[in-house]
Amino acid sequence: MPSKTQLLAAILALPAALADVITGIPDPAPVGFEQWVSPVIMPAPPVVGTGDWATAVARAKNFVSGLTLEEKINVTTGIDIGGPCTIPRLSWNGLCLQDSPLGVRLAQNVSAFPAGINAAATWDTALIEARGKAMGAEFRGKGVNVALGPMTNMGRQAAAGRNWEGFGADPFLSGVATAATINGIQSNGVIATVKHFIANEQEHFRGGSEASQIYSSNIDDKTFHELYLWPFAEAIHTGVGAVMCAYNKINQTQACQNSKIINGVLKEELGFMGLVMSDWAAMIDGIQPALAGLDMNMPGFFAYGRGPQTEGNPDTATNGWWGANLIEMVKNGSVPEARVDDMVVRTFAAYYKLGQDLGYPEISLKDAVNVQADHYKLIRQIGAASTILLKNTNKALPLAVTNIKRIAILGSDAGPNPDGANACSDRGCSQGTMAMGWGSGTANFPYLIDPLQAITSHIQSIDPTVVIDSVLNDFDLAQVRTVSSLADTCLVFASADSGEGYINVGGNQGDRNNITLWHGGDALISTTAASCANTIVVQHTVGPVTMEAWIDHPNVTAVLYAGVPGQETGNAIVDVLFADGAQATNPSGRLPYTIAKAREDYPADVLYASGVGTPQITYEEGLGIDYRWFDINNITPRFEFGFGLSYTTFGYSSLMIAKTHYRRDAEQQAVVSSSAAASTQSSNATVSASVPASTITASASSISSSASISASVSIATNATSTTSASSASSSPIGQLGGPSALYSQLLSVSFRIENTGSLAGNEVSQLYLTFPDESGEPPKVLRGFSRNFLECGQSKVVRIPLRLKDVSVWDVVSQEWVVPSGTFTVHVGSSSRILPLTGSFTM
Ligand SMILES: *[C@@H]1O[C@H](CO)[C@@H](O)[C@H](O)[C@H]1NC(C)=O
Ligand SMILES: *[C@@H]1O[C@H](CO)[C@@H](O)[C@H](O)[C@H]1NC(C)=O
Ligand SMILES: *[C@@H]1O[C@H](CO)[C@@H](O)[C@H](O)[C@H]1NC(C)=O
Ligand SMILES: *[C@@H]1O[C@H](CO)[C@@H](O)[C@H](O)[C@H]1NC(C)=O
Ligand SMILES: *[C@@H]1O[C@H](CO)[C@@H](O)[C@H](O)[C@H]1NC(C)=O
Ligand SMILES: *[C@@H]1O[C@H](CO)[C@@H](O)[C@H](O)[C@H]1NC(C)=O
Ligand SMILES: *[C@@H]1O[C@H](CO)[C@@H](O)[C@H](O)[C@H]1NC(C)=O
Ligand SMILES: *[C@@H]1O[C@H](CO)[C@@H](O)[C@H](O)[C@H]1NC(C)=O
Repeated sequence: MPSKTQLLAAILALPAALADVITGIPDPAPVGFEQWVSPVIMPAPPVVGTGDWATAVARAKNFVSGLTLEEKINVTTGIDIGGPCTIPRLSWNGLCLQDSPLGVRLAQNVSAFPAGINAAATWDTALIEARGKAMGAEFRGKGVNVALGPMTNMGRQAAAGRNWEGFGADPFLSGVATAATINGIQSNGVIATVKHFIANEQEHFRGGSEASQIYSSNIDDKTFHELYLWPFAEAIHTGVGAVMCAYNKINQTQACQNSKIINGVLKEELGFMGLVMSDWAAMIDGIQPALAGLDMNMPGFFAYGRGPQTEGNPDTATNGWWGANLIEMVKNGSVPEARVDDMVVRTFAAYYKLGQDLGYPEISLKDAVNVQADHYKLIRQIGAASTILLKNTNKALPLAVTNIKRIAILGSDAGPNPDGANACSDRGCSQGTMAMGWGSGTANFPYLIDPLQAITSHIQSIDPTVVIDSVLNDFDLAQVRTVSSLADTCLVFASADSGEGYINVGGNQGDRNNITLWHGGDALISTTAASCANTIVVQHTVGPVTMEAWIDHPNVTAVLYAGVPGQETGNAIVDVLFADGAQATNPSGRLPYTIAKAREDYPADVLYASGVGTPQITYEEGLGIDYRWFDINNITPRFEFGFGLSYTTFGYSSLMIAKTHYRRDAEQQAVVSSSAAASTQSSNATVSASVPASTITASASSISSSASISASVSIATNATSTTSASSASSSPIGQLGGPSALYSQLLSVSFRIENTGSLAGNEVSQLYLTFPDESGEPPKVLRGFSRNFLECGQSKVVRIPLRLKDVSVWDVVSQEWVVPSGTFTVHVGSSSRILPLTGSFTM
């Protein structure tokens, strides 16, 4: 963090004309938090169109050069739900932006996909991409230009309300899932939006322009880069068109006006070429966001409850932070017009990059246009593939209908919402089976197949004489006892819900108040288990729940963790429970977070109460989130990150670690660091990337476990940061996601897996890396995974690549990724704690 003197020097280094309009000074921190302030990084770097963005950026610049200031402002300022901003003179009809990360929100005849957390639980990149592609087809079909997803946070607090929208508690897993989702969505020409940038990890005090309290996420630079930024970097590297900044503050400065994170990190360090939009009413000022690099104000008005916000009211132009006010800011010199030009160029760059000028469909959100195609098949497949088998004793699962005489199905989570699947606005209630959390991250169910319905029809299709009893009242324990004591098989369904903070469900203001089951789930399960020797538990939850009350009960023979599976939830659970039909699924889902024995075992929790305007949330655990914390502190979790059983068994053998050969020019880029010239002007970013590079040399070729590679991979950097006005200028502008060599493959880890059991199935293999001792990393971090299908007795060699970035750490001094020297240990296996194979290599 620069001192005050350095900041002053940075400001003085700017051209005189700009110096007096650069009013950004770090927002002050309260006593005791003085080090947690964000530096000011100005001016905003204008987009540099390179690579496969070059044509789009050039076209955008050409287009924007023909616009009037009023027309440009129109593109920067949204209009709430009623309709997009337009440029009538040019017959440009504006952009339609719509939620959500799991389907098209507030629309008819669309699909309700499994939530992000379920996509992550499949650990299957192809399935995750297929989900993105199907969602993208629906957004496009409905005329939505910009899909407001994917969402990626880090699940730092297990109870945080929106964790289910994202991809779990590990940056690598989230990064892969984020990129795959974006690739899928954008393959349909829809602009994807990665959100919420950044450290948007709880709902209480999350902020927004109407909020009286906005929390500050205080994160050190290493943790920021290695955990929270990682999936955003992967998103930018893969070409995401839009980034949404968050409601909260980072180091005291609100995300949408934090020049360090937008100008410095997104646009300089990560070379982002698309647009940055605000979350809905996240802006708390007009001038600062413009200077800090925000490109689009959504939805255009000042605040919920302040200024026009009714559907279709176009007055946002005069009653929002921007609109007519932005014209005034340009005219009175507060915001350079070049900055406005760049906002619009970035927006049109994304538009052209995704080919949206070529016959994009009309908006039809509420019309009968049906875009569901056969996506229900994929939704069912992902629902089953994301189901995690946590316990299975005496081969309780899979069930065989022929062995069942009488089955009890218990719990409100098994049945329908008595008021209808979409009865509660934005799913803001907890009634019936839970297949989605609540808030803006939702879509309307076109229909909802509940478990009771699906299980009943499945059993009856095979043997209509099986007696099926159900009790959907969670608190009628007498009836539960009666029914379960008569049954040979009992299926208990229980749930835990959460969502976005603008809706309160049963006293839960977005974030969960606890991490136990809802609706008396623990008592329901215990009561059932006391009278039914074959009690099988199915949980639909938004995140971890503690299950100590009954997990070791001998009558609880199996536990399935089904997450938030979307419209086909009932069919998906049938595919796993019975594994007998055309869609039979041998479970292979793996936990995308740790399930602790006690809430206190987690490193951090939601901050529920605070009396100050900026509640301080300091990420004191640093890199030690989720499984890393349990590893560092030797805490035994109930079920570790990455855990999940199968109906078959797999053997692991023959670990090999091989050096990958790659192009020398890529090597050069890895070691090149640049300094953004001190004289950067808002209209002309000059970058010199000419620092002499040392080389990466590798000698060893291939090597098996227990030996070591003597590859000397030395990456010496020599950043000349002293002349830079920016502390985040260490990577060449124009390389998406940072220096491209970071994304090139360095090593290939291979091993053999064999299906040693009696059923075909998928195995999710995971690769964890232990960094050299002195590198300050947790005991092990996920750096690769692969899901593979194997017939009984079949074996197969699995290869997992390691990129330069995967073996690098963020160096806070040089502001670059560096490879620590020393010995790395590679662990391979089926969870973060079941790692039968070990090898090493030395850098
Ligand atoms: C936040 O403050 C910490 C501590 O000074 C610093 O390491 C980090 O880089 C800052 N991050 C941002 C985004 O301002
Ligand atoms: C801005 O958009 C509105 C509709 O949203 C339109 O009526 C108006 O003419 C546009 N202004 C310009 C200058 O194009
Ligand atoms: C310039 O205009 C903006 C928007 O109306 C206003 O907020 C700001 O105070 C003005 N600045 C000056 C120096 O007049
Ligand atoms: C489309 O949605 C409308 C409105 O809900 C409904 O009446 C219609 O049946 C739907 N069409 C199809 C094919 O699902
Ligand atoms: C946890 O919260 C849920 C939902 O509000 C509630 O039903 C349940 O009783 C709470 N559990 C405990 C142990 O307080
Ligand atoms: C398990 O279920 C049987 C009924 O089949 C019951 O008799 C027994 O007490 C139960 N065991 C426990 C530990 O509750
Ligand atoms: C950027 O600055 C350089 C050097 O002053 C100049 O040659 C070039 O034309 C400028 N480019 C733009 C786009 O203004
Ligand atoms: C960095 O540059 C300085 C000054 O040119 C030089 O003395 C030093 O050896 C360089 N370091 C590396 C690692 O190249």
